Amino acid sequence: MMEPSRIGPIDHLGFAVRSLADSLEFYREALGVTPSEPEEVPAEGVRVVFLPLGETRIELLEPLGDDSPIARFLARRGEGIHHVCLRVASLEASLERVEREGGEVIPPRVRIGAGGRRIAFLHPRSTGGVLLELKEYL
Ligand code: CO
Repeated sequence: MMEPSRIGPIDHLGFAVRSLADSLEFYREALGVTPSEPEEVPAEGVRVVFLPLGETRIELLEPLGDDSPIARFLARRGEGIHHVCLRVASLEASLERVEREGGEVIPPRVRIGAGGRRIAFLHPRSTGGVLLELKEYL
C-alpha cells in the first residue's frame, strides 16, 4: 500500500489554448510530439489533448463553449499556463490535509477528470498564485 499522503511527481502542465487544431499543428510539426486522441470533459467544459513528454505531459485545453472556465480564462488572460497537476496517492487524504491547514479547494470538491481519474483543484489564493490540480493515482 502506497503512503496515502504521497504527493508528486508533476503529472502534467495545463495550457489553455483557443484552438486545439492550431496548437497541435505546432506541437506535432515543429516539436515532433505525437498527441493523444482528443477527449471531451463536458463537466469541465473542455476538450483536451495530452502531449507525452517522457515522464510528464502537457495538457492542451480548448473551451467547449463561451461559458467554459477555459473560455473565461482566455478572455481574461489569453493563452498560457492554466494549471499544474500533481499526482497524489489518496485524493481524500490530500484534501483533508489541505483543508486542515486552511487551504481552499474549489467546489465541486472532487471531480472526474480526463481518463476517468478523480481530481480536485486548489485555489491559487492558497498556493501562491498557481491553480493546482491534484490527480489520484492509487
Ligand atoms: Co489538468
